[in-house]
Amino acid sequence: MDTKLLFQDIAGFQTPLLAVFAVDIAVGKDAEPLPGLLTTSDAVTNAAAKVLASGEFAGTMGETLLLHAPNGLKAERLLIVGIGKAKTLSVDEVRKGAGTAVRFAKPRSIREMAIAFPEDHALSDEHLESLPCELTGRALVEGALLAEVDYDTYRSERKDLAVHTLSLIAKEDEKTTRAEIQKGFDEGVVVAAAQNFTRSLVNEPGNVLTPTELGKRAAAMCAEMGLQCEVYSTEKLHELKMGAFWAVSQGSVEPPALIVMTYEPALKKGQSADGNAPVLGLVGKGITFDTGGISIKPADGMEKMKYDMAGAGAMIGAMRAIAELKPRVKVIGVVCSAENMPDGKAFKPGDVVTAMSGKTIEIVNTDAEGRLVLADGLHYAKTLGCTHLIDAATLTGAVAIALGILNVGLFSNDEATWEKFHAATAISGEKFWRLPCTDDYKDQIKSQIADIMNSGKTRHGGAISGAMFLKEFAGETPWMHLDIAACAWNDESKPWIANGPSGIAVRSILEWVRSYSA
Ligand code: BES
Ligand code: ZN
Ligand code: ZN
Repeated sequence: MDTKLLFQDIAGFQTPLLAVFAVDIAVGKDAEPLPGLLTTSDAVTNAAAKVLASGEFAGTMGETLLLHAPNGLKAERLLIVGIGKAKTLSVDEVRKGAGTAVRFAKPRSIREMAIAFPEDHALSDEHLESLPCELTGRALVEGALLAEVDYDTYRSERKDLAVHTLSLIAKEDEKTTRAEIQKGFDEGVVVAAAQNFTRSLVNEPGNVLTPTELGKRAAAMCAEMGLQCEVYSTEKLHELKMGAFWAVSQGSVEPPALIVMTYEPALKKGQSADGNAPVLGLVGKGITFDTGGISIKPADGMEKMKYDMAGAGAMIGAMRAIAELKPRVKVIGVVCSAENMPDGKAFKPGDVVTAMSGKTIEIVNTDAEGRLVLADGLHYAKTLGCTHLIDAATLTGAVAIALGILNVGLFSNDEATWEKFHAATAISGEKFWRLPCTDDYKDQIKSQIADIMNSGKTRHGGAISGAMFLKEFAGETPWMHLDIAACAWNDESKPWIANGPSGIAVRSILEWVRSYSA
């Protein structure tokens, strides 16, 4: 989809479809819904007046209403898109609203469309918080580009239902400045492309996207974006003594891949490298298929375990955006990719393996493989000089029991790091919920015969036991763990996004990284 940002009067814009946003401005608990348009255009307000007065449209999130041949507008159709309660409006609703408009147009074979930049000042201040225009511009583009994608790559008959051109129409006045909107718009294009890249990787079936293939795709991305990239395999794992990572991969005929992507910020003129500057390590779980190994999973739903590399996908996508947005901080992406298979050569419950850090691990469940590959990934990132670590992993089914599918489970051993991340989520619009990983939970992973075991003694707090295991390998280094198991794949579509891979965490990780930019 081609996206354009134009500054002009929306009433005079010729287009097959013009979308405008509406919010519900009703106040009070029992008040009837009352839609209000986020536009100062009298022509649009007049064209929509009758239907808005009819009470047939409330302005709830994802609600749409279409008018053909709207009076007084050059557009052939006017689409009113509800984005929810005015009181709770944020740029995240704008992102979803843009997505809703695009996904409305797609199946109707509308190839060209326009969206009116939401004007918060169209409604009085008592109704809503103001929308910062740079972030609004960015959210609009992101929402539209994320909505554009449907995962039909593997269908032999693919319908061309793409929206080819999207124009965002803004007005420059004392509330909105052209430069700010343009900046947000340009960033939105980069961020959405990165998130869609992640989604396309996560969508791939296990027979296509093996660890080797994931390495190739990461390397190709890095070459295109100007990042350094090394892809290692079995030999390097042995050389580095990555006994935990190797244990997981040993049952598969597919060799593992250790992918290291490096972004070095350019120095300002006359500036010399600062030895005390932070180095951020992005570590991703890249299990391209998780059968559970010898502790094999039930057949029902096992096909979904192709998305067990979504953490790796998120880190590769984040690196892509980092390469383009160029924050002034060094970032190293480490992806640990393997296939978890049952086999004569596979690791077994009861085995004891030695991780790169020297810690011994008793394997009690071969299905708790993600923490094993990450143990070595986290330790390795530290040896590469990382001062701050973040990992993303589809680590546990238990996180869905704890939090449902709306919030990613977040764990951290450092308040300052977590606070920076929390601030970043206000920009990304993604939802995370912090869970505890204090030392009193360590009892769960105490082993009778080794330093630790790879699964909790009981099933209580399974997501926490996973985090406690990883925490052992982060050690004293500030660290965050994102358990994205419940949020990386959407079983159901939404008006603003297709079902399938969500690309969760890419935007938040990116914003967190940018918050360290010197
Ligand atoms: N890949 C799974 C976790 C998962 C489950 C991801 C559902 C996405 C959806 C992980 O490797 C796993 O199997 N974890 C076990 C851990 C247990 C054996 C301690 C689990 O959650 O049951
Ligand atoms: Zn598993
Ligand atoms: Zn897994």
